[in-house]
Amino acid sequence: MPKLTYLGHAAFLVEGSKGSVVIDPFLSGNPLARAKPEEIQVDYVLLSHGHGDHLGDALQIAEACDAVIVAPNELAVYCAGKGARTHGMHLGGAFNFPFGRVKLTIAHHGSMAPDGTYTGNPCGFLVTMDGKTLYHPGDTGLFYDMKLIGEMNRIDVALLPIGDNFTMGIEDAVKAAEFLQAGVVIPMHYKTFELIDVEPTEFVAKVEAGGMKARLLPIGESLDY
Ligand code: NI
Ligand code: MN
Repeated sequence: MPKLTYLGHAAFLVEGSKGSVVIDPFLSGNPLARAKPEEIQVDYVLLSHGHGDHLGDALQIAEACDAVIVAPNELAVYCAGKGARTHGMHLGGAFNFPFGRVKLTIAHHGSMAPDGTYTGNPCGFLVTMDGKTLYHPGDTGLFYDMKLIGEMNRIDVALLPIGDNFTMGIEDAVKAAEFLQAGVVIPMHYKTFELIDVEPTEFVAKVEAGGMKARLLPIGESLDY
């Protein structure tokens, strides 16, 4: 049974029986985050795109843990240029890692490293560990292919950005939840900045009003799924 821990913003730690990963570890730059980069112990770091609030402390964590960074190829090449061990992938591709299976999904967004380097297409992730599937869509607007992602995968947990401005807002994220038909949806990418100061409780209430299950996972808290 994998354990999911919310580290704030779009950052999650996922620990399974065969290894652990951290997704989009933006910690030291996030005043709301509690965990420090040096406390993170993982085998792999998954990056959805190059924006500073996702790349975050990835390079430092990867170096400290001797972990491999998994990212869309252009971003993987950028990280390799900074000295990281990397595994480049691309949209639609899946790979069986020791900890589990990762498939890259489309995300409608941009991708540029904080130093201005363009880092290709952003992505989302389907991560299957111990027979359970987690969907982290990265930063994205709503897209109808989420219906296909929901049809082709039995998603146990879907993490959905709700903050608006840079990603889906609450209304679109509720529609995404309808498309995905996940066991439970968890909101992310809200309140970190003034521009994304929306109420996650409103999202949870609207998803549940639609007969689906949603859960607010406070920063620092975990869920076994
Ligand atoms: Ni972004
Ligand atoms: Mn973001």
